[in-house]
Amino acid sequence: MAQLQNGILGGPGRSALFLTLSVGPGADAAARVRDVCSAVPALVRSVGHRDESAALSCVVAIGADAWERLVPGGTRPAQLHPFRELADGPRTAPSTPGDLLLHIRAERADFCHELARVIRVKLGDAVGVIDETRAFAYLDSRDLIGFVDGTENPGTEERLQFVIVADEDPEHAGGSYVTTQRYVTDFARWDACKTEEQEAAIGRTKADDIELDDAACPPSAHKARTTITRDGAEQKILRQNRAFGTSSESGTYFIAYARDLSVTEEMLVRMYVADADGVYDRLLDFTTPVSGTNFFAPSLDVLEGLADAPADAPAVATATDSTTPAAEVPSTLGIGDLRGGRGLI
Ligand code: HEM
Repeated sequence: MAQLQNGILGGPGRSALFLTLSVGPGADAAARVRDVCSAVPALVRSVGHRDESAALSCVVAIGADAWERLVPGGTRPAQLHPFRELADGPRTAPSTPGDLLLHIRAERADFCHELARVIRVKLGDAVGVIDETRAFAYLDSRDLIGFVDGTENPGTEERLQFVIVADEDPEHAGGSYVTTQRYVTDFARWDACKTEEQEAAIGRTKADDIELDDAACPPSAHKARTTITRDGAEQKILRQNRAFGTSSESGTYFIAYARDLSVTEEMLVRMYVADADGVYDRLLDFTTPVSGTNFFAPSLDVLEGLADAPADAPAVATATDSTTPAAEVPSTLGIGDLRGGRGLI
């Protein structure tokens, strides 16, 4: 049974730090990065222990272009590929590089900073920083556009089912596909809209965060574009978005975890590419992504085994001596398996 990375099914945290890195050329850089990645769970324990109520966590995820270098041997996760750029009319979703993602979360910004600092020192010049975004919960977990974000995420009992790879890709069971996009919002344009128009763009009320009735919810609403079903069943992803920015430029850092990357991708296509009736996601008239990257967050077993992986052998470890409780992936993901299980969140 593969163990999950700590925090992977948790909440977004009051503070988040998203660190997207490139790995330098050469075998030494890759080896150093593998060493540090495998030590991240222990580093989280060391830093986080100073105040357990800070609930520090860090998910490590590996980019499509770096997979073979950082996880030598074996096969890559079945659906891992670079972010697929989208363009339709004025709407574009660029694909940008990223070999490694550290998704650090805590209830205290200083803990996010401290963990990033410690990891960064250990990585040294083996990496370059592509993007570092420090983000925060705005008021009662709202985006800067003023709407609560995350309400319709899968609930505790659904999370394993929608987020964690299982028997469909046994070598990568316990992992999850991660997609990030950094959105910069045009607040002059957004703030010029009446509340009713903003609510129609999202598909929920602004103050109370209640779904609009179907009759009042246009097909261009963000909620309508991102609700997808397959064989009659609604498909979900786990979003952990946070607000970021300065008084000059700000927006939403979008991050989603999914068991099936094609679900996230289908949502993106429905947002960006107008359908036969010319309908696309109205939210995109106000906010623009400046990045787009896919990663795979391996199981804790794979992560902690990276240091021992010779460059020509599979990197999958057989055991972990982690002292931190971690969730386990049952061989099947029936909801019944999750009831009464170990702490997943
Ligand atoms: C600037 C970027 C974005 C902002 C500000 C934003 C904001 C929101 C808000 C306010 C909600 C309603 C509350 C909730 O259920 O969480 C929502 C719902 C949702 N968003 Fe986004 N979102 C963004 C990007 C995306 C992207 C890129 C995707 C998918 C690839 C996505 C997928 C979803 C999904 C699946 C829902 C739940 C729909 C439902 O079941 O009602 N969002 N988003």
